[in-house]
Amino acid sequence: MTLTPTERIYVALDTPDTAKALELAKQLIGHVGGVKLGKEFFVANGPEGVRALAEVGMPVFLDLKFHDIPNTVAGAISSALPLSPSILNVHACGGSEMMRKARTALDEVSGEKPMLIAVTVLTSLGDDDLHELGVDKTAEDQVVHLASLAKSCGLDGVVCSPHEIKPIRAVCGPDFKLVVPGIRPTWAATGDQKRITTPADAIRDGADYLVIGRPITGADDPVAAAKRIADELGGL
Ligand code: C5P
Repeated sequence: MTLTPTERIYVALDTPDTAKALELAKQLIGHVGGVKLGKEFFVANGPEGVRALAEVGMPVFLDLKFHDIPNTVAGAISSALPLSPSILNVHACGGSEMMRKARTALDEVSGEKPMLIAVTVLTSLGDDDLHELGVDKTAEDQVVHLASLAKSCGLDGVVCSPHEIKPIRAVCGPDFKLVVPGIRPTWAATGDQKRITTPADAIRDGADYLVIGRPITGADDPVAAAKRIADELGGL
């Protein structure tokens, strides 16, 4: 299935304020493919908040990055399913049994299923941080290792930074979904993101979905910003 430029964009609504998130989502419907709600939103607003956003009618990536013992993660996945998210995620560092149980928890339910993806190495961690944690691989090698493990456990893809797209694609193949934050159009402020790329370069490198927050949510005209990004992706 070929995605349209708009469908590739998930806008990150990083706010604890439901009214603000709803206003943005309503404005952006038809101009982005979905919304990403993370811990900041969820801890403040809970499942009620997620339901309110889902009612706007856009796919919801529920970015809660589950990481616990296999039974607990499987339970969390089952509890999230009634919210009908389009994407759910777990930390690959929870291990293969945990990822398999998460997969099984999804497969036990009939009907449309969310994509289940893994977080590999948080992009806030570099080689030195990994060594401190007892991991001898470089961050990039560990990312590719964990992406490959996630694939072998039946996960649909991973969240990865722009510079990890090509090495993961090379090892995990064309059907493994890559969801990529750290995106900055040339005309947007970088903010605190360090390893960034443009929307078009990320898609050219092999990203499936782009997670974009402040370049859209912080723009004077969020709809115009989303349209400009989709236009930049047209024809790729
Ligand atoms: O505003 P900005 O475009 O930087 O937002 C990016 C979103 O993607 C935020 O929700 C951020 O938490 C998330 N993210 C990220 N880098 C990662 C994983 C998630 O920026 N490695």
